[in-house]
This record gives sequence, structure tokens and C-alpha cells, in this order.
Amino acid sequence: MNPNANNRNTADENYKNELKKRILELKEKRNAVIIVHNYQRDEIQDIADITGDSLALSKAVMRTDAKTIVFCGVQFMAESAAILNPDKTILLPVKEAGCPMADMITAEKLKAKKLEYPDAAVVCYVNSSAKVKAESDCCCTSSNAIAVVKSIPNKKIIFVPDRNLALYVQSQVPQKEIVPWKGFCPTHIRVQEEDIKEIKALHPDAEVIAHPECNPEVLALSDHICSTGGMFKYCKDSSTKSFIIVTEMGMLYRLRKENLTKNFYLATEHLICPSMKLTTLGWVAHSLENMTNAITVPEEIRSKAIKALRKMLEITGESQTVAFAGY
Ligand code: 13P
Ligand code: SF4
Repeated sequence: MNPNANNRNTADENYKNELKKRILELKEKRNAVIIVHNYQRDEIQDIADITGDSLALSKAVMRTDAKTIVFCGVQFMAESAAILNPDKTILLPVKEAGCPMADMITAEKLKAKKLEYPDAAVVCYVNSSAKVKAESDCCCTSSNAIAVVKSIPNKKIIFVPDRNLALYVQSQVPQKEIVPWKGFCPTHIRVQEEDIKEIKALHPDAEVIAHPECNPEVLALSDHICSTGGMFKYCKDSSTKSFIIVTEMGMLYRLRKENLTKNFYLATEHLICPSMKLTTLGWVAHSLENMTNAITVPEEIRSKAIKALRKMLEITGESQTVAFAGY
């Protein structure tokens, strides 16, 4: 073993602790809250005021009195928060933290698709830009996609941008005709059927819990399919002792912390979202210090995009629990 390794680890820990202290001071000074997605680094989850999935975080931003929100996640999440809360300052610590899936569709391409299917409604996964949301009838997240699609009166639904989520919803709602877009999550599609078979052979008693962004063959081998927020609830409530987690590795930190007597195995070592890992303590401190990367959405786009987000919250009965700024 390298004799310097221990010294280096201690120096790393000291540095992180100093940064955490600095962030706490800055948070006070700026009257800010730190909102953190479940895929963020462990040390970012440690400084969170609220941790959750994309839907929970958007709602959390609507409920807080704080004027400044540091959104530790990716661009589309901070943008949704900005659409729903135009009176608040939403900071994204690293402006390059995008979601490749969200970039797989543009408003122009969606408009062309709508012309091809004039009788279809558009349901748009929140992993999309504000401009795409503005062209959609209703948004959804992985936690409410089935309920949203069921509630839309049209038989035909253009579902963008995630193909796997679209196919999963189609399998659960066969009475609808879903036209899937061809987008995907580069992290989740890397998991193959063989990976699941291999890890199941190693842990035969474990339940397989997968995110619906995974390939259909992977979902077919899973015991439970849900959003990241749904995974916490499912694993906590289940009497099962071991779980194979088929989503981004950041999930394991809180799952293990909140379920000390249970075992969690990541399905493959490839389950890492590079964009989610761009946010570091240093960037959070920098963002609060300099108020950098405030996310704003032009009003002509925001006023359309909020309708699709608001419709989603109405369908899932969540509009009662949140106040709509300006609407
Ligand atoms: P959740 O809404 O389940 O947190 O998913 C967001 C996401 O980007 C999954 O890859
Ligand atoms: Fe986007 Fe996939 Fe990362 Fe989620 S895990 S933010 S869908 S790239």
C-alpha cells in the first residue's frame, strides 16, 4: 500500500470540510437553500437542504421561502425550477451540466413531428429543454408518466424524448397508441440483459429495482420499476434484505445510509452519469460566492412551458400542494 495514501485521504477530507464550512457561511449570507438530485456526489448530498427526484425538487423549490436556490443537478432540472419560480434566483453551479437525452430533441424537430401526427397530443418527459416543453401539451416524470398518459384524452400520443420510457408506458397503457421519440439516456442504455443475469446469479435473493430509462430487456428482468424517489420508498418498505439497483450510482449513498441492515448492489460499474458528477463542493462555493450561472427562461417560452408543467401537477393532484408563481 502506498504510505502516502493515508495522508492524502486526510488532506482531502480536511479540504472538503473547509469547503462545507464555507458553503454554510455563504448560504447564510445569501439566504439560500441547496437542492440536490439523488445522483449527485456523496459530499454534495451531505450539504443538501433537500434531496430528491426531479419532480420532488421542482416542488421543493416552489415551497421554499428562500430567494436563492443552488440547484445541484442538471440543466433541465434547474430550468424547470426557473419556469415554475420566476421570482427566485436559480443557480446551477456548473453551466456545462447538461443532460444528453434532453439534447436529443429540439422544438423545431418536435414541431415537424406534430405535423405528421395532427391528432396526437404531446407528452414530454421533464428531461427536455424549456423550448420543447413549450411545444408540449403535458410534461411527465418517471414517477407519473403512466398516470399522465392515461389521463390524456387523445388516443395517439407523441412521447418525447426518451424511447425506453415511452415503450415502458406503452406496455402499461396498451389502450393508447404511443409514438416514441428516439432519444435515450447514455448511462442507462449501457446496462445489458447479460449484466442483470450475471449479477442476479451472484445475489439470487436480491430484488432487481430499475429505472424506466433502462432498455426493455433489462426492465423485463426487473422486479420493480420506478423513479429514483420511488426507489427509496420501495426499498425502505420492502421486507427484502438485498437489492440490485439499476440506475445511477449516486443512489447507493442514501439507500445505504437509510437502510443500515439491507444490502445494495449496483447492477454494473458503468452506471455513472458524467454530467451529474460535474458539480463539486468547490463549484457550489464558487456559485454562491459569485452568484454565477443563474438560469433564466425568456418569458415567451416560460409562459408556454409552464402550462405543460402545470398540467402534469394538476393530473397527479399535486397542484393543490404548491402555489403557482404568477399563474
Ligand atoms: P428521476 O426523476 O427519477 O430522479 O430521474 C431523473 C433522471 O435524470 C434519471 O436519469
Ligand atoms: Fe440525463 Fe441520463 Fe444523466 Fe439522467 S442519468 S441526467 S437522463 S444523462
